[in-house]
Amino acid sequence: MTDTAGKKIAVLTSGGDAPGMNAAVRAVVLVGISCGADVYGIYNGYKGLMEGDLRQFSAKDVSDLSRKGGTVLGSARSKEFMTEEGFAQALRVIKGYDLDGLVVVGGDGSLHGAQRLSESGVKCMGIPASIDNDIAYTDYSIGVDTAQDTIIEAIDKIKDTASSHRRGFVIEVMGRAHGFLALATGVACGAEMVILPGDDLTNPERQAQIVDEVSRYYVRKKPNFICVLAEGASGPGCSAVDILAELISRAGYDCRKTILGHVQRGGTPTCNDRNLATIMGFAATKALLEGDTGKMVGVSGREVLLTPFEDVFAAEMDLPQEFLDKVRLLSVY
Ligand code: F6P
Repeated sequence: MTDTAGKKIAVLTSGGDAPGMNAAVRAVVLVGISCGADVYGIYNGYKGLMEGDLRQFSAKDVSDLSRKGGTVLGSARSKEFMTEEGFAQALRVIKGYDLDGLVVVGGDGSLHGAQRLSESGVKCMGIPASIDNDIAYTDYSIGVDTAQDTIIEAIDKIKDTASSHRRGFVIEVMGRAHGFLALATGVACGAEMVILPGDDLTNPERQAQIVDEVSRYYVRKKPNFICVLAEGASGPGCSAVDILAELISRAGYDCRKTILGHVQRGGTPTCNDRNLATIMGFAATKALLEGDTGKMVGVSGREVLLTPFEDVFAAEMDLPQEFLDKVRLLSVY
């Protein structure tokens, strides 16, 4: 009998779903069971935790789960959990079920919830899962690799149409306030332009610069002009997609707009996402069962990191310079 035997732990997925979440849940359940623990699946994130919507999982329950997109546990963005009353209710459920610990799989907001739980004495480990790749202390969050592939497939298809009709396209991709997805996929597709959050598109000087840049492609008879836009570049009173389409048209191209939307979040997880989720699920569960708490699992290169939540949230999230440098270089006609 190991000292982890007989422990009761639970896993939940929270926030926006991300491909690979299921592989993480599978890993938590299988590692937990193989260490002699009882593992519970909590449905619908923190909402389900507050409602006591959970049940014990067997190995059979997670059979063949790695290849499935979305999250079989369901997810939610629960505002109520952040209230004093909602949080207290969640603590009551944890106590009522006599849970020794929790693994939270989700993005920034979900991991903040996990930090709060651990500060309240509930042993809690976090696994970063969000297509936005906006979480520090891990090279990638679960879901990013699949989302990138979905995006480049869409852009490649749009490029065929753009070239056939000599059009410009503004393609808006997700990523919240972080521009990682736009930058990475823009480089991968050889986009002519990538617009990141923080770019002031309402500034007349910036607008003139963009028109000038697009015009240079147009006069050179470039058959398409692809602008990948980060959704976070829009703000109150600034629809980046509309402004850019107008500027590209002004430079000569017949321009269309495509907002890729939620197609980016679904689909079969790539091999990388399944394996990243498996590694993270394994590490988080082992650490939790050994008594660790208040940390997020990350993978940097081949190293598995366990970083305290406060360090994760305090870190600056820079975009990779090697991508920033290449945006211009690779889009030369
Ligand atoms: O955080 C993941 C994400 O897909 C963001 O890129 C996007 O801004 C947001 O979620 C959309 O959220 P919802 O699905 O709640 O509309």
